[in-house]
Amino acid sequence: VRTGRGRATGKVILLGEHSVVYGHPAIALPITSISARAEATTTTQASRVDSALFHGLLSSAPDRLRPTVTAVRAALGTDDPALGGVHVRIDSDIPSERGVGSSAAVAAAVVSAVSQARGRTLTPDERFDLVQDAERAAHGSPSGLDARAVCASGPIWFRRGTVEHISVGAPLHLVVADSGVRGRTREAVESVRALKQSSPAVFDHAISALSALTTRARIQISDGDVEGLGTTMDDAHRHLGVLGVGDRALDHLATAARAAGAPGAKLTGGGRGGCILALAHDPDHAAELVARLRTAGAPAAWTTHMEIA
Ligand code: MEV
Repeated sequence: VRTGRGRATGKVILLGEHSVVYGHPAIALPITSISARAEATTTTQASRVDSALFHGLLSSAPDRLRPTVTAVRAALGTDDPALGGVHVRIDSDIPSERGVGSSAAVAAAVVSAVSQARGRTLTPDERFDLVQDAERAAHGSPSGLDARAVCASGPIWFRRGTVEHISVGAPLHLVVADSGVRGRTREAVESVRALKQSSPAVFDHAISALSALTTRARIQISDGDVEGLGTTMDDAHRHLGVLGVGDRALDHLATAARAAGAPGAKLTGGGRGGCILALAHDPDHAAELVARLRTAGAPAAWTTHMEIA
């Protein structure tokens, strides 16, 4: 019997959601305080899964577990029953349907655990490909940003499927706050596509502005310009509103964060529910923002910190 283990963090998009769908860059960060963990043990019997959602045979897992089932099968690389299966235990504190990368993180943890149990060491690109298979089962045609970000240790610059690590000139302290409204990424992506058809000028203006803000943010992160980055985030929130992916709960939380001294705040991910991301001055200010956002109605909030690198 061989055992393998895997872990991946939550993720948040700093800049570039929606414009990334049209080939522009995006910047994502791991949320270091939440993660998904998996342990896999080889077995001579059929594969099984134990998670908060389901306990039982992989072959009879419900539809909700499709990404996990895809991840296990992809990492096993074979359906040959003679080779036996794996027993996978999954444990995650990343909430689902909040745009914080839950499905990709679970898939990444599972892929690592199962491959390791099978004695296979994956390169980062092989791991990405397997996680992306699981993401396709969950979301249709994802950009690949989540699959890259949940395996990263710092900010990443993502463009057309490739990643670069971004240098960080001053520590970044951020807060992710849940609006309590389920994110509707697929619907939001479709509505942006509809806007492209119905009002091409509005669409083009907002998408180019978001693309330029993403490039500006990369420079501000590397220069350690926290105030400038805050302004860039506020501007992006407005342009995402023009694209039609904002909502009142997200506006309310972003306004509350700014009133509590955040240099900037914006919706993050698909929008239409999901989370906001707020910038803080230091770790104490981040903790204060968590408290203020909870008081403003966020059912949950998490901090994430990026060191100079
Ligand atoms: C969703 O987290 C981010 C979007 O840009 C969609 C995608 O990148 O697949 C809205």
